[in-house]
Amino acid sequence: MKIIVTGGAGFIGSNFIFHMLNTYPNYRIICVDKLTYAGNLSTLKSVMDNSNFRFIKIDICDSEAIEQLFMEEKPDMVVNFAAESHVDRSIENPGIFLETNIMGTAVLMDACRKHGIKRYHQVSTDEVYGDLPLDRPDLLFTEETPLYASSPYSSSKAGADLLVLAYFRTYGLPVTISRCSNNYGPYHFPEKLIPLMIVNALNNKPLPVYGDGKNVRDWLYVEDHCKAIDLIIHKGREGEVYNVGGHNEMANIDIVKLICKELGKSEDLITYVTDRKGHDRRYAIDPTKIHTELGWLPETKFEDGIKKTIQWYLDNREWWEDIISGEYQHYYKKMYESKKE
Ligand code: NAD
Ligand code: DAU
Repeated sequence: MKIIVTGGAGFIGSNFIFHMLNTYPNYRIICVDKLTYAGNLSTLKSVMDNSNFRFIKIDICDSEAIEQLFMEEKPDMVVNFAAESHVDRSIENPGIFLETNIMGTAVLMDACRKHGIKRYHQVSTDEVYGDLPLDRPDLLFTEETPLYASSPYSSSKAGADLLVLAYFRTYGLPVTISRCSNNYGPYHFPEKLIPLMIVNALNNKPLPVYGDGKNVRDWLYVEDHCKAIDLIIHKGREGEVYNVGGHNEMANIDIVKLICKELGKSEDLITYVTDRKGHDRRYAIDPTKIHTELGWLPETKFEDGIKKTIQWYLDNREWWEDIISGEYQHYYKKMYESKKE
């Protein structure tokens, strides 16, 4: 089996590559990544010498380069993680989100159509459903929940999902889609809530909480997401959407306080800042379909996963110190100077 994994130098894609190379020693994994600010080759250093692994720097919007790669590799499957993934950046600059997340998806699927493929898998997000109220804990996102995206990021992902389903219906392309909740774990880029708070706390810097801090996310350890995708690409039904989430809803402020406690830092570091525009209030996934059809259940409890994650950031300072010493500083200044309250 030959699988092209796009966006494999990013957070979830890299964890998926490690999972696949460990689980299927006979598979060949080809990682396609443009190496944007979020892609980091050092993340993949442990697999670079693996003879079943190839890295190639390509923009998924570059149809010629993608065509060339398909001719060379003749892949059996494509798993598309490549995306602009940060909501705050999409609010600043939507254009690149439309290019990569929608046009890039079309380029990949056109190559799949031309060359034939066993499976095209789109890694999507629960954010395509919009948000849920805080006072209705009974409401969860199911696969039937209408798409109602709030941000340029989530609407670009929703657009891509519609395109994927259109390629299934129009061309019979064998597709699947997973819509997962918030992931956390190793190699998470420190612009996102959990790694940003860990890194800032370790540096005794303010911990910027948006709005009232009561927004809720449904957190899943990244390895559990990777296992879900593994099941879907092998056993999932073509043309189907699978929600992935672990019934682990938490308010942002409680996560930040937990990180302070685990690191022995004072909660005085917590600073409430201007809210994100259009900030989604609550996400919560109903994972019944993937559980009953494919037998998937999350394995890592949040109490354990967050400890493992914090320990990873303590043990891998070089990885994130390299990141925050570069372009990230300009990003941080631009985003957070304007949020000061
Ligand atoms: P990430 O930002 O950490 O990584 C994205 C990767 O894609 C980077 O390596 C980047 O270099 C690469 N990339 C970006 N544009 C590219 C292009 N044009 N061509 C080739 N490569 C390109 O993102 P992530 O958090 O690992 O998310 C991966 C996927 O999972 C995304 O599609 C995202 O929408 C989805 N998702 C993320 C979460 C989450 O909690 N992080 C949850 C659900 C779904
Ligand atoms: O739900 C899945 C989505 O989760 C993925 O599709 C996205 O790619 C991923 O980035 C993530 O989106 P969120 O917007 O939920 O994640 P983020 O880490 O940016 O923010 C989580 C919550 O924390 C959100 O309510 C905003 C808040 N926040 C975030 C940052 C970066 C803060 O309060 N302060 C911060 O500095």
